Amino acid sequence: MNRQEENTVKNRCFTDFDGKFRARLAAVVPRYFSGGADAKLTGTSARYQCRVKIEYQKDLMGLLEEGMLLAVRNFKQVSDGVDRYTLMEISRVWPEHFGLRGLSDHGYYPMQFEIIEQSEADWQTDDTSTMMIQIDAVPINYDLIMKGNGEFEFFKGFSYPVVGSPAYLLNSGMINRIYNKRITDQLGIDALRTVEDARVDPRLGLVKMFEANKTVIPIYVDFEKLVRYHFGVFAFTGGGKSNLTSNVLRRILLHSENTKVVLFDISCEYSFLLLDLLADPVFPSKIVLEHSVDSVEQFFNSVVKPREYEDDERIKAGLQRVMKQGKVAYYTKPKHKVPKYIQFLDELAAQRKDNIGKPHYMNAIDKIHDAVLAYMEENGLSEGQEVNEAFVRYIDGVAREAVEQFRVHDKSGLYAWATTRTTILDVIKNKREKEKTETGGLTTENIRELVEDESTRLVCLSISDPFTIKELAIALTQELLSRRKRKFQVKPYILLVFDEAQEFIPATGDSSGIDKKCSRQVEKILRQGRKYGLGACISTQRIANLNTNALQQLHTYFVGTLPRPYDRLLISDTFMIDKGILEKTLEFAPGEWLLSSYIATGIASVPIFIKADNVEKEIEKYLKNNA
Ligand SMILES: Nc1ncnc2c1ncn2[C@@H]1O[C@H](COP(=O)(O)OP(=O)(O)OP(=O)(O)O)[C@@H](O)[C@H]1O
Ligand SMILES: [Mg+2]
Repeated sequence: MNRQEENTVKNRCFTDFDGKFRARLAAVVPRYFSGGADAKLTGTSARYQCRVKIEYQKDLMGLLEEGMLLAVRNFKQVSDGVDRYTLMEISRVWPEHFGLRGLSDHGYYPMQFEIIEQSEADWQTDDTSTMMIQIDAVPINYDLIMKGNGEFEFFKGFSYPVVGSPAYLLNSGMINRIYNKRITDQLGIDALRTVEDARVDPRLGLVKMFEANKTVIPIYVDFEKLVRYHFGVFAFTGGGKSNLTSNVLRRILLHSENTKVVLFDISCEYSFLLLDLLADPVFPSKIVLEHSVDSVEQFFNSVVKPREYEDDERIKAGLQRVMKQGKVAYYTKPKHKVPKYIQFLDELAAQRKDNIGKPHYMNAIDKIHDAVLAYMEENGLSEGQEVNEAFVRYIDGVAREAVEQFRVHDKSGLYAWATTRTTILDVIKNKREKEKTETGGLTTENIRELVEDESTRLVCLSISDPFTIKELAIALTQELLSRRKRKFQVKPYILLVFDEAQEFIPATGDSSGIDKKCSRQVEKILRQGRKYGLGACISTQRIANLNTNALQQLHTYFVGTLPRPYDRLLISDTFMIDKGILEKTLEFAPGEWLLSSYIATGIASVPIFIKADNVEKEIEKYLKNNA
């Protein structure tokens, strides 16, 4: 490549902020992973870290930011006219003053102050002999290959950069290309024409980079991959988790056809956060409340709103429209507990434990057990389903016959169990009669039907009682999963959203009863769901006491400010994000996020800082247009 050609290609890829950025790679520091003794170095897949030194220029500190990408020529062999660069992400930027470095703590105090004071003015100059800027950067395991004809491509792989050679800064066009190209091509949209309006543009927000230059770079994700491979939202309270979650859901629902959403809304705020969608007559959705509401007043009061909207009459009007469209229902708890097949099997297992040492009892139990399994298989039933009358009559016959055949003593527990199964028939009958007289409420089964029907896109379960919503979460997800398994069905995708996820997936070690059961069940969805098109979103403020098996299943995560070091350590370890890069989240305002994904962004596992679009603007627009 001749010099002229080289310069044009570089101009297309790199920026030097109008000649202000002149940098060289000063050192490559290997990282060791043995035993994790040096905890500072965990949480990244990079094998080394880079130190870059930049000639001082007074505007530069305001332009450089963590998250920007650098390119440095590397040692890999290439053919003539081709350049190959190692890409690295800036994890830390700081200014250094030569005079201050030499300042001794032991010096005469007025002298120390004198030197410090004098240095202040230096920063306003471009004096490269007293100041410089240093950068720590971590390789992202991608190479940039630049060809003479002006073309370039990215190549995944490990390489060592040449120490001492110039470091170049990737420009906004390249950043857009790296993070978005794959996705915008797929969606057939032009990133240059991005707008905030959720109905027009599927973007999640803007990349937080080159802001000082007033350059706008949108950020897009692959919704199908986001949903299928699960995602997590982690931030301190007030960090904007619910805002972001509803922003993501809105864009998914508006810009993909094959996805339904089930929202476990324990804090009852999504009727507000998704009001524009819920009130849209052409958007099929349902809100399921804890109790029936008779008036819009009641409904309005049950919805949690941001402070500025607490007395807003326009919201009441919006909710009224939702009600008028028949989109509000309430949940009826199962009152008559009809046993499920799993319970039958569990009871038999308990009998088996009680009767160890009596082989003929075991034979009887095996016979009944096999009959239950055979019945389920023949009729395509799953463990989580309630038993029906036909089954009860059938198994009653089998059980009576078995205890006779194997001479089970008529005073034994097993005998009593086996000869009283028909009592379940009464429970089934009672339940049926009760359901006939109660109208309007939705049972778990009704909700499941709603989720699986042709048209419904969104089911919002706004139930604030933790016990009730957990019970519903367990039953509903069990049923959805087992039905999908039986039908080998993957589409449409169903996204299960757990806001305040600490309620649903506590660490199983410290929990018991329904908490533990719920945690296990959601973990199961996370482990097995993607095979069957069931995705999950986990949003929470503290990840320290969560079920880590569940967390490890997330392929995409949004991280906001997490003030506790332990939470950041856990994120860094679980998701392999460099600690230095994570520290940046401490300075975030609400709505700012670090986004990283193994699969749903345009480039795998390269964290990026973004500013999510604010959902309240979307709601405000709706309220204005419908006033
Ligand atoms: N993308 C954003 N842009 C601007 N402001 C935002 C953004 N996201 C959130 N906020 C502001 O932060 C406030 C809190 O947001 P939100 O309720 O979503 O936080 P949260 O993390 O869910 O809090 P909690 O832990 O209480 O559930 C919002 O009322 C809003 O004013
Ligand atoms: Mg919230």
